[in-house]
Parts: sequence; C-alpha cells; structure tokens
Amino acid sequence: MTLAVIGGTGVYDPTWLRDPEEVTVATPFGGARLVQGALFAGGTPVYFMNRHGAGHQLPPHLVNYRANVWALRALGVTRVLATAAVGSLNPAMPPGSMVFCDQFLDFTKSRPTTFFDGGEAGVVHTDMTEPYCPDCRRVLAATAQTLGLPAAAAGTYVATEGPRFESPAEIRAYRILGGDLVGMTGVPEVVLARELGLCYAGVALVTNFAAGISQRALTHSEVLTVMADNVARLRTLLQTALQELAGSPRCECQATLVPLDGNRAAVDRQN
Ligand code: HPA
Repeated sequence: MTLAVIGGTGVYDPTWLRDPEEVTVATPFGGARLVQGALFAGGTPVYFMNRHGAGHQLPPHLVNYRANVWALRALGVTRVLATAAVGSLNPAMPPGSMVFCDQFLDFTKSRPTTFFDGGEAGVVHTDMTEPYCPDCRRVLAATAQTLGLPAAAAGTYVATEGPRFESPAEIRAYRILGGDLVGMTGVPEVVLARELGLCYAGVALVTNFAAGISQRALTHSEVLTVMADNVARLRTLLQTALQELAGSPRCECQATLVPLDGNRAAVDRQN
C-alpha cells in the first residue's frame, strides 16, 4: 500500500515525513510536484502533495486536479487522505472540529471533472454511490476517537467554485439541500480519484461557520488562523491513521482501477 496526503489550505509542511525528497511527475495534463518520504525509516512510502502549490499560489478553480490525481496514481499511490479547510452549515460541526465526509454536492462551474473526454480516452460514467473510501473513513473516525479529537464520522460537503466566499442566501439553500460543510476544492478531486480507483478520504477541518450563520464578514486570514491553531492535531490524526491504512484495504474502491493509458478496453470494463 502506498499512501498520500494532499495538503489543503494551511497544511503545507511535509517535514513530518522521514527522509523527505522532492519529486516531479510529468502527466498528460502537466507536471505535478510532490514530496516523497515515509512515516518511519524503512516504512510504507508516503507522498505529500501541496494542493495549492508552493506559497498557496493557486486558487481553487485553477488547481490542476487532473495532473495531481494522475501523478499520485502513476506513483503507485493507492490511498489518499485529502485535507480541506471548510465552513460549517451545521451547528453540530463547530469550528475546530474535523469531519470525514461521506457525500458531496457539486456546485463548481469551470473545472475539468473527468479523465475521460471521449475520443481515445473513451466515455466513462463512474459510480458515485460511495465517493469517499469507507475503510479510510472508518479508520479516521476510530483514530479521532482514540486521540480524543472532536470529529464527525460523516457529513455532506458542498463544493463551490470560489474563489469568493458564499452569500448567506447560497448557504441557506445548501443547508436545505442537505449540506453540512462548504469548501472550494473537494470536487473534482474526489471524482478524479474515483475514476482512477484510488481510495480517497476527505479530512475536513471546520475553520468557521459559513456566511450568514456567522454574523461577521469572513476572511481568508480567519481561515488560516483557525487552521494554524489546529494543524498539529490534524497532523497527529493523519500520522496515526496512515499507519493503520498501510495494511490491506477492506473496501471496494480499487475494483474500478483502470490502466493509466486510459485505453478503450479499460473504459469498457468500467461500464
Ligand atoms: N466557504 C468556502 N470555503 C471555505 C470556507 C467557507 O466558509 N471556510 C474555509 N473554506
């Protein structure tokens, strides 16, 4: 099992990995940069990828999600834990808590959301009944409980286009639709991971109550401050959970694994 962490807003530091080494991977969608290391000397390889690039220079709608996910798969990664700062729509998920999402609602607008654009690549309609790996979620929830961290084992993530924050009317609408959390990067990342048969878990850290629930105007620096206050706990959770996740999977996520050349035969098998 080869593992990866995608670090979202506020999670930039890969120095918790043993023997960190930078790697660049060329993909059909452009290059991706990662740090390769291990949880302990001689242990399971772990890759760390900075979603927003060095210095957080990429806004959510310009992240090259396809290159990132393709690179992970090309490196042999099988399980991915992806962190994200989120706003909360749910009073039971206050700032400082973690949520291991089980569903998403997609309100993004401008992003390539598939590896299968027709032609040579074919057309694929990937099952999204269980978008987030149930085995990873189970391990994350159990780890959070053992560590005494405030966490919810399920939640619906609303993906917005950004980079602006939402209006209170949008937040009210998302709540009516069943959303618990709102963020700007969870989709298409989870969708692309499913297309390539990766186990993918979203580790959301609530940094604020969403617009209109919180009466104050929302700022990115508030999000960064709350992330900074919680990043050590998040890292402990990831390190502990990854040790367990290095064992055999007890999920079906990888049953949809397709060869990386994305040829027609592979596509047909998925349908
Ligand atoms: N909305 C969207 N993305 C976010 C938020 C929010 O309130 N907080 C952190 N990321």
